[in-house]
Parts: sequence; structure tokens; C-alpha cells
Amino acid sequence: MKKDFVVTPWEVKGDIDYEKLTRDFGVKHLDDKILKGLEKEAGELHYFLKRKIFFAHTYFDEILAEAKKGNKFYLYTGRAPSGPVHLGHLVPWIFTRWLQDKFGATLLFQIPDEEKFLFKDNLTFDDTKKWAYENTLDIIAMGFDPKKTKVFLDTEYAGHMYKTACMVAKRTNISTLKSLFGLKDSNNVGEFFYTCMQSVPAFLPTIMENEPTRCLIPCAIDQDVHFRLTRDVAAGIGFPKPATILSRFLPGLTEGGKMSSSIENTAIFSTDSENVVRDKIMRYAFSGGRESAAEHRKTGGVPEVDVSYQYLTYFLEDSNKLKKIYDDYKSGKMLTGELKQITVDTINEFLSEHRARREEAKTRIEDFMLRD
Ligand code: TRP
Repeated sequence: MKKDFVVTPWEVKGDIDYEKLTRDFGVKHLDDKILKGLEKEAGELHYFLKRKIFFAHTYFDEILAEAKKGNKFYLYTGRAPSGPVHLGHLVPWIFTRWLQDKFGATLLFQIPDEEKFLFKDNLTFDDTKKWAYENTLDIIAMGFDPKKTKVFLDTEYAGHMYKTACMVAKRTNISTLKSLFGLKDSNNVGEFFYTCMQSVPAFLPTIMENEPTRCLIPCAIDQDVHFRLTRDVAAGIGFPKPATILSRFLPGLTEGGKMSSSIENTAIFSTDSENVVRDKIMRYAFSGGRESAAEHRKTGGVPEVDVSYQYLTYFLEDSNKLKKIYDDYKSGKMLTGELKQITVDTINEFLSEHRARREEAKTRIEDFMLRD
């Protein structure tokens, strides 16, 4: 039997049953028909789609229909600046970059600095500003097109957002927020208001283009709750409903659930050195191997629960190589040490390129920022 799991925008833990989550959240699977449609428009499918890392959606079929007609849509995603970026954060951004490349879409990247200020006890606006800067370097390092990408902090772009946030707020009552998010009377009023701000960028495409313009939001599935509210109010305030395309969570090193900065030894950060990455994986990555090498050779490993193998499904693009690793590990031909070594090398290769682009990004920040 599966253990209990929790998925909210603020907490993800336990052994996540994505089937149940899809039903509970009222979202749809990215089924073969929709993937065929996407392949036709994009020319190919990203391996995140083939491997069901992005696996669910709302209204993505309508976005595809727009693309097919030659109409533009925007992309929108975000990052609340509470600490360093880890590999799990990069997953939706890698995919967003691919979508931007394939569709030439403008990307709005929200940095809701007030979110973490409001929800965390010990974070000042000075802290969030520092992390916003650090995180923006990671965002720019993804390789988004500077001509088509706008990054903004809520506290610096609020003048353009506030009216729309109030339109959302006026249609949102406290009981809805309590039932969607589990907020209580003891939560502060900023926490109640916050989703109104996260909704706004979904409507900015229409405001910026001055005509109804669809918006597609690539994100991890926990964020869909915010956008359920956004979808519910959209028509009433004269905007098209935003669509979402939703990913699983990159697992943490030591356990189920997701990679998280707040749980020790579960995260690999974008700025970790090669040695730190090696050390974390060798020491902490949960292994699907057997007690002894002899037993492993005899019965084989369990790639499905092996965190190093799971990471390869996210970061090793070559599907033939991945298949061979799966087969060799499962048959017992490959030992845990060898598998971990491949994972260390794969992640270090990815991160060394990322770190170089992140360094370069320091001179390019102003090419991306939007301010009041
Ligand atoms: N709430 C998100 C977080 O905690 C940040 C965010 C804002 C976001 N807008 C978004 C994430 C849109 C995905 C899509 O990090």
C-alpha cells in the first residue's frame, strides 16, 4: 500500500500517487492525442514529454489549437526567492525554454518576492531581494531569448499588476481560499491575498497585446491550485482562461517527496561544486541496490526506487544510453557505485555549463528586467 502523501503549494511529502493527484486536482493527462498534436506543431517532442516528466495539463489542447491557427500565446512561470535554486527548480525552466524555442513565445517570469516574505517567519525584504538577484542569474542562464523574456519582482512591478490583482480579489472570497489552500483564520491577510498576485501574469498577455491572448503556464503540479482560482475568475473579469502544463517533482536525494532546500541533504544546488555534487550523490542518494555486491549481481537492482537512476531520467537525454543503464542495473550487471558515478558525471556536465552561463548572466540582468 502507498503511504499517505501531501501536495500543496507549500508542502510536498510522502510517496506521491500521480494518478490520484491528477484526479484530485481535476487536471488531465497529456495523452497520446495531445502529444501527437504537440509533436506536429513543434516538430519533435522534448524527452520530458516522452518520459512523462511533464504528464498533465489544463486547456493545453486550446493552446495547441491557437498555435495551429498561427495565433500567438505567451508563456508564464515563476520562482519565489527564498534561497538558492536547486535542480528541481530547473526542470520546469528547461521545458519552458524548449517551448519558447519551438513556438517563439514571449515569456513572463514572475519573482513573487512578497510571497516568501508573507509565508516565511524569518525572511526580510532584504533577504528576498538578495535571493531574487541570485535566482535571476539562474533564470537567465537557462538561455531564454532576451528579446522575448520579461522578468519582474512583484514589489517592483506592482504598479502594473495591482488593478488586475484587485479584480481577482473582488471575485475571491475567504471560504474559497480556505478550501483551496487550507488557510485558517490565523493566517495573515497577505497570505489570503497572495494568489491574486500570482494570477495577474496569466492576464498580462491580454493587457500587453491589447487583445485576448492565451497564456500557457509550465510548472510543477503543486502550483496548479493557484491557477484553478485564476481559471475560475478569468471569464468574469474579461480574460481568457490560462492553460497549465504540469510536471512531476524531482525527488530529493534521501527520500520520496520532492527535492527541497529546507530538508537537509536532499538538494543539489545550481552553484554546488563538482566535489560537492559527487559527495552528495555518493553519500545520500537513495539506492535501489542490494545489501552486497554478490546479492546485487544475483538479484539485480531496482531502478524504479533508485534516486540516481531517477535523476538520469531527468538529465540524461540519450534514451538509448538510459535504456541500457536501466537494463544493466536491473539485471545486476551494473552496481550502485557505477550507476552513481554516471549520475555524478551527467549532473556535473549539466551544471558546469549552467554555472558558466550563470556567471555570464551577471552583465545581462538589465536586458531582462521589467520595472514600474
Ligand atoms: N509560487 C511559486 C513558488 O513558490 C512561484 C510562482 C509564481 C510560480 N508564479 C508562478 C511558479 C507561476 C510557477 C508558475 O516558487
